Amino acid sequence: MARPQARFVCQQCAAVYPKWTGRCDSCGAWNSLIEELPREELPGGISKRTRDRRGGRSLGFVGLTGPSMLPPRRQTGIAELDRVCGGGFVPGSAILVGGDPGIGKSTLLLQAAAAIAPPIEEGSAKLKAQPATAAYITGEEAIDQVRLRAERLGVAASPVLLAAASNVRDIIASLDREDAPDLVVVDSIQTMYLDTLDSAPGTVSQVRAAAQEMIRLAKRRGFVLVLVGHVTKEGVIAGPRVLEHMVDTVLYFEGERGHQFRILRAVKNRFGATDEIGVFEMSDRGLVEVPNPSALFLAGRPAPGQHESGVAGENESAGSSGGQISGSAVFAGMEGTRPVLIEVQALVAPAVLGTPRRAVVGWDGTRLAMITAVLEARCGLSVGANDIYLNVAGGLRIVEPAADLAVAAALVSALTETPVPADIVVFGEIALSGDVRPVGHTESRLKEAAKLGFAETWMPIQRGKRREATIAREIETTSIGHLRELVERLAPKRSPLGPLPRQCRIGVVS
Ligand code: TYD
Ligand code: MG
Repeated sequence: MARPQARFVCQQCAAVYPKWTGRCDSCGAWNSLIEELPREELPGGISKRTRDRRGGRSLGFVGLTGPSMLPPRRQTGIAELDRVCGGGFVPGSAILVGGDPGIGKSTLLLQAAAAIAPPIEEGSAKLKAQPATAAYITGEEAIDQVRLRAERLGVAASPVLLAAASNVRDIIASLDREDAPDLVVVDSIQTMYLDTLDSAPGTVSQVRAAAQEMIRLAKRRGFVLVLVGHVTKEGVIAGPRVLEHMVDTVLYFEGERGHQFRILRAVKNRFGATDEIGVFEMSDRGLVEVPNPSALFLAGRPAPGQHESGVAGENESAGSSGGQISGSAVFAGMEGTRPVLIEVQALVAPAVLGTPRRAVVGWDGTRLAMITAVLEARCGLSVGANDIYLNVAGGLRIVEPAADLAVAAALVSALTETPVPADIVVFGEIALSGDVRPVGHTESRLKEAAKLGFAETWMPIQRGKRREATIAREIETTSIGHLRELVERLAPKRSPLGPLPRQCRIGVVS
């Protein structure tokens, strides 16, 4: 039988060529040809015989209800990781963990593998008939490096199967068996290659083909496959997002270099919600879970009431570090289903250069421009000639529009040099008219604020049923219907701190 010809398929227009060329003649796209395995060779693919048949087998349709075949989820015991995955890993699923180099992906996954396969002790072996097994395949580091890390993390005693490999054929041959491990970590997918393809490891076709082979095996053998993927300079996982479509779950591990904590965020999840985050802190013994992120993000602030001071903070606030600070407001935010309190800091200074500077860290610069415009147009507050620096303390990135009111409070407080009282949390969306709009999850936000010792909240007006639903009575609620009301609260007619800077002309429009 003649050897099937290699074929190159344009990824833009699906034109097929017998040879590789740099440019697709059919659609003109550059560098879009990718070698694909001929049909007949596709493992598990459609064979010639099947295609030639007149009619296929008719499908046995079923109803939506019925016994679910999904085996129970596999929990690592690392609660932050389990929650982001929607309550643990689903056997037979593929998970992609992306992130910048050095952020801690290998550390997290080695810890997860060790947590899945805990050291077998004399007593516990009897309790659990079949302990879970985990394998860690590294294509980037040497065995000794991984061992050294395991020692540092204090997990060296765990029976994790460790291998240094990058040939997918070898990996598949070792894992395609009845007693395959329950969790397989491949670090990283960019180092894996299939020897049937000519292209170098890390190229789109290699990454895609290697991932496809391993995902197929994971589904067949029912193990959890975790692929580590590097984020390219453009901010996408190399293998331009093709991987994201192939896996069941995409997690991003992010964090600021200067900060100790890391955030694991679900971007896609076929088995759970995608708005969950897991918060970790990088310590000298690996990643430590942060079960109460609010305390971490508020570290360094004067405590409201009995508010626990939490983790030692490195975040110096905009004003003085003790007592009342102007230019700072605490935002009662939501990260997924979890409420988080975050400090928003603003600094307003007369512009030295002609064009005022706007520097924003952790928030959307366009939204800041919108809020300053609303402050000017609807509240008569002149902000324009000042440099504005806005910072979300701790390095977290806020995406919720509910942070508008907190940002406005920090800004107005900085402008008027009037501190927002330390025991107040703020949330609400600001419309272009200056109206403060209600946002979701009011109850959770209030509860979290009350839990951390805050006494009052400035929030949008709750109407109708929502108002009755607000039962968190441990905290006083002050409704702010229009941004002007917030300005009035923070801009008393005569500032106790003396004259305001010249550029900060305050005039409350009646
Ligand atoms: P690593 O997991 O190798 O990152 P990635 O796989 O995402 O490239 O983590 C690298 C960083 O983590 C490295 O700069 C050192 C730091 N680290 C600690 O601070 N403490 C630890 O216990 C470990 C293992 C790493
Ligand atoms: Mg690594």
